[in-house]
Amino acid sequence: MNVIAAILIAVIVVAALVALGWWLFIETEGVYLGRRVVIWLYDLYAARYDRIKKFQRHYDHMFLAQPLMERIAPNESPRVLDVATGTGRLPLALIRHKRFRGQVIGLDLSRRMLDHAADKLADRRVQWVCAPAESLPFPTGTFDVVTCLEAIEFMTRRETALREMIRVLRPGGILLATNRIHARWMVGKTYKDDDLAALLQRLGMGQVEIESWQVDYDLVWGYKKQTTAPPAD
Ligand SMILES: C[S@@+](CC[C@H](N)C(=O)[O-])C[C@H]1O[C@@H](n2cnc3c(N)ncnc32)[C@H](O)[C@@H]1O
Repeated sequence: MNVIAAILIAVIVVAALVALGWWLFIETEGVYLGRRVVIWLYDLYAARYDRIKKFQRHYDHMFLAQPLMERIAPNESPRVLDVATGTGRLPLALIRHKRFRGQVIGLDLSRRMLDHAADKLADRRVQWVCAPAESLPFPTGTFDVVTCLEAIEFMTRRETALREMIRVLRPGGILLATNRIHARWMVGKTYKDDDLAALLQRLGMGQVEIESWQVDYDLVWGYKKQTTAPPAD
């Protein structure tokens, strides 16, 4: 009886450890363990990322590049920063858009994700920068458009990163981001749509619109206020 009880306890402990490991490293991609772990995991996944995500070219054109080009019109040469670009999904969609004549910087802290992006897309209108979202290496008001797709929930200092994205946006510039929804496993790492809209407005955005997009993500469109007053703390 004692042996059976000991085996049962051992099985329960092992199952609990496996579940904890799955939650910490797979489901929440290291976000509760700090930025270094998040980036280490993305370095590990980088070679498989595109195969896992299976992004569709026409879908990214229809829901990302085309609406962005419509909103920024008549400017066909915007300066765009894609924060947490990964393997370059947004830069690729923009470069393939026939009216895009601007410049796009894809920024990420995972060197391996950027290496894959650079392998897929070599174009003089694109630059790759390895830097953290929480400390963007650009002067205030540099970009017409800042984007950040499927990444805010994996940032250990989300508000600092959002503040930085808004800082480098010019007054009147466009922010395109995603908001993770249905994330019951990511307690404290996601926003309700209304809360995110209110936070963005507190950090310096004017109008913010949030629309349904995918099962896991809503799309967030915002315009930076024209005023030069510093955002509230
Ligand atoms: C799910 S991927 C999204 C990539 C891309 N935006 C897309 O839609 O395919 C998340 C990316 O965020 C990056 N990332 C996470 N935390 C970051 C941080 N603090 N600074 C810069 N990049 C970060 C990761 O390296 C990873 O490439």
